[in-house]
Amino acid sequence: MTFSALSHLECPRCGRTHDAQSLTNLCACGSPLLARYDLSAVSTTPSDVATRTPDLWRYHELLPVQSASSVVTLGEGMTPLLDLARLGDLLGLPRLKMKDEGLLPTGSFKARGAAVGVSRASELGARALSMPTNGNAGAAWAAYAARAGLPITVAMPVAAPSINRTEVAVAGAELVLVRGHIGQAGAWVREAVADRIPEVFDVSTLKEPYRIEGKKTMGLEIAEQLGWRMPDVIVYPTGGGVGLIGIHKALLELRELGWVSGELPRLVSVQSTGCAPIVAAFDAGERESQPWPDPRTVAFGLTVPKALGDFLVLDALYATRGTAVAVTDQQILEDLSVAGRLEGLFLSPEGAATVSAARQLRETGWLGEQDDVVLLNTGNGLVYPDTVAVDAPEVDPPA
Ligand SMILES: Cc1ncc(COP(=O)(O)O)c(C=O)c1O
Repeated sequence: MTFSALSHLECPRCGRTHDAQSLTNLCACGSPLLARYDLSAVSTTPSDVATRTPDLWRYHELLPVQSASSVVTLGEGMTPLLDLARLGDLLGLPRLKMKDEGLLPTGSFKARGAAVGVSRASELGARALSMPTNGNAGAAWAAYAARAGLPITVAMPVAAPSINRTEVAVAGAELVLVRGHIGQAGAWVREAVADRIPEVFDVSTLKEPYRIEGKKTMGLEIAEQLGWRMPDVIVYPTGGGVGLIGIHKALLELRELGWVSGELPRLVSVQSTGCAPIVAAFDAGERESQPWPDPRTVAFGLTVPKALGDFLVLDALYATRGTAVAVTDQQILEDLSVAGRLEGLFLSPEGAATVSAARQLRETGWLGEQDDVVLLNTGNGLVYPDTVAVDAPEVDPPA
């Protein structure tokens, strides 16, 4: 039995195929590359998977890492899929669920992409890594790079959550704070790092093909946790869109394997009104987005003015009869508190944005009462301690 069924890399834009056995960034046409698997060679069944350890490596045939000894892990995966009975009642969605990614190592779903991306980069002989980040990805990649013994340079906007700086620093990574947004941090990485560190491998979002494979496991887990069934709707907070592209890819692969059947869930991209390039493109029926001027939102991970994989996100929304919605920062913060009070969950603002989107889509009737809806809380609220004002009296202890 092979550990991984990876066969090659494929360009979703021009269709060219690439060898998967060397370190590769983009296709010559500028598009991100996608990992392809020989699914006909996978003889594993869902019951085999059920006997494996509860982490994302239980799906190793559908992941790119070639050998178990290359796996760099901090125990990531199999996050809870929670019923949100009280919140669902309030929103008129009795079947509402949330996958809580806040419990992963480094506090966000970025651990999935980092675990698989670092494992594969290290397996293929990378000597040093570099990346721009909105914070959480940098924290995750720094941690996994440390565990793999690989140096990494992380460029982060000055405005990113301060705990992310600490996480990067504690993992011993080189940290640079860029006065600008993630696109400008990416430009710094391209210009400043390549000259200084000769063999550096750029692991920016979608510039290498394996981060998406890690994030794909959110889709694999949702299907497994529902008893190898797909929900009606999945609501995802979209910045670079890697998670949404990954979930779509996962479900297509599972359907090809015959582990799930039927129509794919309608996929929903949520952005903030302060940075909503995908929503604007979707509303205009476009295949690509336009750069968003002056991106700003409390859901910092969504501050991506123009995603490299925007066309893949939009394709996934159109193909699944999904939609894209923008929600205000004020609504996000209100829903963060509502979810805390009703469900005991301290959501990231990105996760709270999915609650606001579900609220909005139920109000407009796009979501029906019987829809089986899964929201993604992509990060832990503890990373953003200032989202909730605390008004508690200070008292002296009794004498
Ligand atoms: C907590 C959180 N949610 C969502 C996102 C957006 O992720 P994606 O690139 O998959 O759209 C980010 C990205 O930084 C994030 O940190």
